[in-house]
Amino acid sequence: MKYAIETDKLTKKYGELTAVDALSLRIRRGEIFGLLGPNGAGKTTLISMLCTILEPTSGKAKVNGFDISAEQSSVRKNIGIVFQDPSLDDELTAWENLDIHGALYGLSPQDRKARAESSLKTVELYDKKDELVKHYSGGMKRRLEIARGLMHAPAVLFLDEPTIGLDPQTRRHIWDSVKKMNREKKVTVILTTHYIDEADALCGRVAIVDRGKIVACGAPSKLKKKGESLEEVFLRLTGNEIREEKGSSTQTMRARMRAWNK
Ligand SMILES: Nc1ncnc2c1ncn2[C@@H]1O[C@H](COP(=O)(O)OP(=O)(O)OP(=O)(O)O)[C@@H](O)[C@H]1O
Ligand SMILES: [Mg+2]
Repeated sequence: MKYAIETDKLTKKYGELTAVDALSLRIRRGEIFGLLGPNGAGKTTLISMLCTILEPTSGKAKVNGFDISAEQSSVRKNIGIVFQDPSLDDELTAWENLDIHGALYGLSPQDRKARAESSLKTVELYDKKDELVKHYSGGMKRRLEIARGLMHAPAVLFLDEPTIGLDPQTRRHIWDSVKKMNREKKVTVILTTHYIDEADALCGRVAIVDRGKIVACGAPSKLKKKGESLEEVFLRLTGNEIREEKGSSTQTMRARMRAWNK
């Protein structure tokens, strides 16, 4: 099996609004793949369907070879997710957060210990493992969420805006962690970002999504016309107009978390 992700005319409608519109996409195993697009383009909706949190309206998709509608539990075992909104338990230590996550996934105590150690080392938080998360900075929390996403050794990791609101140093630190786990653990990474420089630095290929459709897909260097930056490509393809968002992303994600935990 060559593809980590295969979608075939995948569609999600919210009433009249088509958030993801007959989207067909293939992502090879081992890629770091970026989804770029204006607010409301459908990125989180697409990821939520691939993570089995949202049911598609029509179309099909496979994640690591498993069908997102017919084989949901296999899909879930094969993926890690870092949501757009933080979801750590502040009153616990970093180690406890990972241990509980491992237990939810049915890992044995020995496996939990080994995985927590290795994923904390990947994001360089091992020496802070016994601190309460409420004493962590924003960047450390984000790295811890990535470590948690790695706990059950997923084949595919989804990162929805992994570096939003972080300073340049911390963003680069996270880029290094993402590259390292992609290289060392052979994890396929699908990330969304509004930082075009991030996609440029990190992703082998990107898809620019607008109004639920892919308007361009390829290596950043191939999408650029002579002298253009990736941001200029993005604006050329998606225009200058500001998107009015109908729903709050945060509320949407809360509803999805509830669906996932059901
Ligand atoms: N539960 C929902 N009910 C109704 N409309 C929704 C719902 N969730 C999302 N939408 C709408 O679907 C569209 C796509 O939203 P989505 O959150 O997938 O976009 P996004 O690309 O992730 O945007 P952002 O960059 O702001 O995170 C938007 O117009 C949004 O308002
Ligand atoms: Mg989003």
